[in-house]
Amino acid sequence: MRLPAPFSHSNLPLGSRQAGKVRDWYDLPDGRRALVVTDRISAFDRILGAIPYKGQVLNQLSAFWFERTRDIVPNHLLYVPDPNVSIVRVCRPWPVEIVVRGYITGVTGTSLWTLYARGEREIYGVRLPDGLRKNDRLPHPIITPTTKATGGAHDERITRDEIIARGLVPADVYAHIERVALALFERGSQICARAGLTLVDTKYEFGDLGGALTLIDELHTPDSSRFWDTSARTDRRAEPVHLDKEFIRLWYAEHGYRGEGEPPPMSDELVAAASERYIRAYERITGQPFIPGAYPVNDRILQGMGRWREVDSEPETGSRDED
Ligand SMILES: Nc1ncnc2c1ncn2[C@@H]1O[C@H](COP(=O)(O)OP(=O)(O)O)[C@@H](O)[C@H]1O
Ligand SMILES: [Mg+2]
Repeated sequence: MRLPAPFSHSNLPLGSRQAGKVRDWYDLPDGRRALVVTDRISAFDRILGAIPYKGQVLNQLSAFWFERTRDIVPNHLLYVPDPNVSIVRVCRPWPVEIVVRGYITGVTGTSLWTLYARGEREIYGVRLPDGLRKNDRLPHPIITPTTKATGGAHDERITRDEIIARGLVPADVYAHIERVALALFERGSQICARAGLTLVDTKYEFGDLGGALTLIDELHTPDSSRFWDTSARTDRRAEPVHLDKEFIRLWYAEHGYRGEGEPPPMSDELVAAASERYIRAYERITGQPFIPGAYPVNDRILQGMGRWREVDSEPETGSRDED
């Protein structure tokens, strides 16, 4: 497939554009928000470039997972009017990122394997046994929360006790978050396992919506999660096939970059390979073919905006009937 120029930046006539590293958003009336997932890719807490079709994969894959987890916890998604856009409810985000890990792995300074290999055994307030090897399954999934950094700062490790003591999240809400996060991870692991994939670890974000705990942002995507293709794996000690962003981090590590200073530019081969992996992750997880949306994405979104719903008074209708 010949790759189009990536969708790096949205420009929609919906009032002021706000932007995170990967998403742009526009606040609409009635507490709704148009969340536009661009092709930007971030790692090491910075934007590295853009990968064609990555935004569509993230947006549609999140919608797939929100649909399949709404019995566990309500989520922010109202509907998906375009492959790269979700209309969501604005929530008050809890200022923590809830990382759940089923395996000990990683290459960055904060990854579980890096810390464990340095001799740490009490990590994120969790006691780990001796004798674990890289990519081993943990005795049970663990939650390793971080602060949610703003303005380009790095997320910091934090424990449950600190979260509560600092008043970041009330104790009863945090206990609820922990139960929900583990249930989501179990559901994600089951659905991935049926597709021959391992859900290695992931990150959840939660918010408050009128007193109700609500899942926000994205869910079980190759940006927020590590997936291993375990279907063709014969040697458990060999480096697994990554269907996620770890593939990018490994490329940077091979080029001598681990997150300090200016990163080397991504090669065309890396961009093409990353696009292919994101699409493969989508197809493997959903069991559906990826149907690439037309580029340029911004023009396509503009053309379809007349068909967005004026008001969304109904309860969540999911995305399946939209796309
Ligand atoms: N429903 C929601 N209500 C409020 N904030 C949200 C919601 N969904 C996602 N967000 C926030 O919007 C931003 C999404 O943009 P993103 O590019 O992922 O940001 P970041 O650079 O922080 O990862 C994040 O800060 C996320 O916490
Ligand atoms: Mg994000």
